[in-house]
Amino acid sequence: MNFQLSEEHLMIQKAARDFAVHELLPGVIARDEQQKFPAEQVKQLGELGFLGMMVSPTYGGAGLDTISYVLAMEEISKIDASTSVCMSVNNSLVCWGLETFGTEEQKQKYLVPLAKGEVIGAFLLSEPEAGSDATSQRTTAEDKGDHYLLNGTKNWITNGNSAGTYLVIAHTHPEKGSKGINAFIVEKSWPGVTVGAKENKLGIRGSDTHSIMFQDVKVPKENRIGEDGFGFKFAMKTLAGGRIGIASQALGIASGAYELALKYSRERKAFGKEISQHQAIQFKLADMATQIEAARLLCLKAAWEKDNHLDYTLSSSMAKVFASETAMWVTTEAVQVHGGYGYVKEYHVERLMRDAKITQIYEGTSEVQRIVISRAILG
Ligand code: CAA
Ligand code: FAD
Repeated sequence: MNFQLSEEHLMIQKAARDFAVHELLPGVIARDEQQKFPAEQVKQLGELGFLGMMVSPTYGGAGLDTISYVLAMEEISKIDASTSVCMSVNNSLVCWGLETFGTEEQKQKYLVPLAKGEVIGAFLLSEPEAGSDATSQRTTAEDKGDHYLLNGTKNWITNGNSAGTYLVIAHTHPEKGSKGINAFIVEKSWPGVTVGAKENKLGIRGSDTHSIMFQDVKVPKENRIGEDGFGFKFAMKTLAGGRIGIASQALGIASGAYELALKYSRERKAFGKEISQHQAIQFKLADMATQIEAARLLCLKAAWEKDNHLDYTLSSSMAKVFASETAMWVTTEAVQVHGGYGYVKEYHVERLMRDAKITQIYEGTSEVQRIVISRAILG
């Protein structure tokens, strides 16, 4: 067993850190306040290969492993979780799903521009009546011979407006339950696709979250992913990898807040000494560092299992539930270490605390992760 990162991993980590500090940090507070999607920064991420990190170079990707992805996600998320969620969805839900289960034609047409960051992708599973209970899909894709007719509404869709390519989950044979569900590649520009208003959110306010409506959208047969009825398994298998991305996002939010708290504790004086000299603050920092290290190890283990073609469903859920709860706790403590200054925008930790909350909700709530974990351990 080797806990050391390779030279290549360290280089990728540094490249992501430099990008975050130089390109994301300036303006991050304003983007949060104005709910501004980081379009220019996402374009740059694409040019640097961060939007198709694990995609093979044959399809325009960077051909890196999942460990590299975890490292990059942590660094980007330390500074700007609104950008990292866009990166996570594109990499681990959209590109991975297409590369693993798409046909050669689908990969050439859709994966290549997504991996290069020329087009952004979105993953459309959730509906007003089907969040955690994801098999209760109301969106229908009626089989019309040479095409499907798509009708329904998806909500909470990350990259909903900025994406050009959607992966849409819908029911074709409702009587077959989860085995009647399919996944489709749908272009945002097609007739019958409507993008709803942007959601006004607590955190990750820069990310563009929208409802998407489909009215009699004609989807060619060749845009179905996998065999008829594979859609739910497609979603679940894709989400297992996606959860490594969100776990790494949570890890980054936590470690970003911890680094700020550590720095501040050495600068701020109270009762004649730096607050880092008070044991109550030292113990907070010690607990933060320990929790973060445990979260990082879980993320890296899940990534290592994925890279080694082992089953990572259990470890990705463990990483996600642990890292997201760590993020919520660490960011709250980071605000506490900053005292009143932590409660205002300039010090960043209040934003990280607001951003942390979503990691316990999307890509499966903490309760859903515990369902996945308990089913795995109880059989
Ligand atoms: N891999 C392969 N197949 C899987 C699977 C997996 N990881 N998990 C389940 N399945 C299969 C099951 O084996 C079953 O197939 P069979 O009938 O052939 O055995 C079928 O799928 C149905 O599974 P379940 O009976 O376990 O389904 P369930 O109704 O009990 O639900 C659940 C299970 C884990 C709660 C699931 O519904 C779930 O994950 N819900 C959360 C949804 C979610 O994560 N949404 C995220 C949306 S994307 C997003 O949020 C992006 C973002 O924010 C940025
Ligand atoms: P519900 O499923 O209604 O859950 C409500 C509460 O009940 C939760 O606490 C839940 O854990 C609990 N609960 C539900 N069932 C159980 C159970 N069986 N046992 C114990 N507790 C249970 N979805 C996409 O498809 N694509 C996206 O890009 C996307 N991006 C998102 C971005 C944002 C900002 C947000 C807020 C959501 C996004 N989602 C996306 C949707 C997200 O995945 C869902 O919100 C999430 O899966 C929870 O579903 P729900 O909101 O319907 O909550």
